[in-house]
Amino acid sequence: MARLVIVSNRVASPKERGAKAGGLAVALREALNKRGGVWFGWSGETQVDPPAEPKIFRSGKVTYALQTLDPEDQRDHYAGYANGTLWPLCHYRLGLLNFRRTEWEGYRRVNATFARALMPLLKPDDIVWVHDYHFIPLASELRALGFEGRIGYFHHIPWPTPEVFLTLPSHAALVRDLSRYDLVGLQTEHDVRALLTYVSSEARGWIAPGGVVGLRDRRFRVATYPIGIDADAFVRDAQAAAGSEDEERLEASLAGRALAVGVDRLDYSKGLPNKFAAFGELLKSHPERRSTVTMMQIAPFSRGEVAEYRALRRELEELAGSINGEYAEFDWVPLRYLNRPFQRATLAAIYRTARLGVVTPLRDGMNLVAKEYVAAQNPEDPGVLVLSRFAGAADELSGSVIVNPYDVEGMADALDTALSMPLDERRDRWRANMDKVARNTIHRWCESFLHDLSGVDDYGADVE
Ligand code: G6P
Repeated sequence: MARLVIVSNRVASPKERGAKAGGLAVALREALNKRGGVWFGWSGETQVDPPAEPKIFRSGKVTYALQTLDPEDQRDHYAGYANGTLWPLCHYRLGLLNFRRTEWEGYRRVNATFARALMPLLKPDDIVWVHDYHFIPLASELRALGFEGRIGYFHHIPWPTPEVFLTLPSHAALVRDLSRYDLVGLQTEHDVRALLTYVSSEARGWIAPGGVVGLRDRRFRVATYPIGIDADAFVRDAQAAAGSEDEERLEASLAGRALAVGVDRLDYSKGLPNKFAAFGELLKSHPERRSTVTMMQIAPFSRGEVAEYRALRRELEELAGSINGEYAEFDWVPLRYLNRPFQRATLAAIYRTARLGVVTPLRDGMNLVAKEYVAAQNPEDPGVLVLSRFAGAADELSGSVIVNPYDVEGMADALDTALSMPLDERRDRWRANMDKVARNTIHRWCESFLHDLSGVDDYGADVE
């Protein structure tokens, strides 16, 4: 079996356990631990005149290779083009999109640096799997250095429709970069349609059955691989959480009230102001709910180097303060707002205790919190998932109460409906969701992507 080389901007340290790392990092560690190989990415450090070679160490079956970057390059790449341009673009937030040529150049420069650092570690028959929007040009750079093996790319976030994508001044170059991969994986059918429509209508490419795409002198394949979680591990964590000290403390603090929980990075794509407003609206328009339900929002800080994230933090602090100021009682605080991450075991206890899981992004590639919430439920008395139709997970989790996060009053009504849902209906909906979560696991995601990437030689080569 060919060796696997994974590339991602964040590389979770082998010591980092539990829920500290994001969904992506957790997923990749599980994949590599199963198969062995190399995990290459950013060291998390910057340094003027950094060494050209990555720091290398081994842990179990995995070799880690971590590249340090020049501080200006890192800023242009991470806070600049990746998170100031591509992130808002792919999440349909054109009002937040900043495009600067210097950042686009920095983004490309960093990809070239990474390719030069990775190239000496590659063997000709390695399979290289590149993750996420930080690295779209990496295959072009590796090909320019002479790597001819298979390279796949998985885009963890949404792919925007052509009308939105065309606002990006560098759209054509970016899709040319994508065409240097053999396989491009996206989360949903909607994302695949969006990319293929751009290819055929704007880039003058052609599409053949099976998502095979021809663009200039290249052929590559575009397909859907909805990411999942390690459902068994989450079920085990949740079972272990039953009767744990965390669960008892949480139950005691609720004093018989229902709990609604949200867990999101503090990111404008997650729809947190709308979620807070919907909870406020529930308390306003359904006064009988006051003092009967507590909302807990866990929102660890994220990307503080980008101005929009700092502004969002201030907005949420104000909103949380005003909801609590308006509705709190001397023995009840409506909204518990926590900005720190929690270990997976504690999260499992919180999810299991919560009558509602509230996942209401304005746009989201998949959203693994939705799947974790489902996996953590007690099958005898499961909670209800309230889920935005704009999360990729909504395609699969049809047992959820589906909401439009732009409709605050509609969301308040949905919270009310979900809170009064009878046990039979909760069980039916949960079963439908759990079947999907248990079937489309992270292992299946990984295996099917790698299986398809291994079988691409008949269309991945250059066509002269
Ligand atoms: C999303 C992205 C990941 C990213 C993660 C955390 O899940 O798809 O690529 O690693 O957010 O964001 P950060 O900027 O802290 O890496």
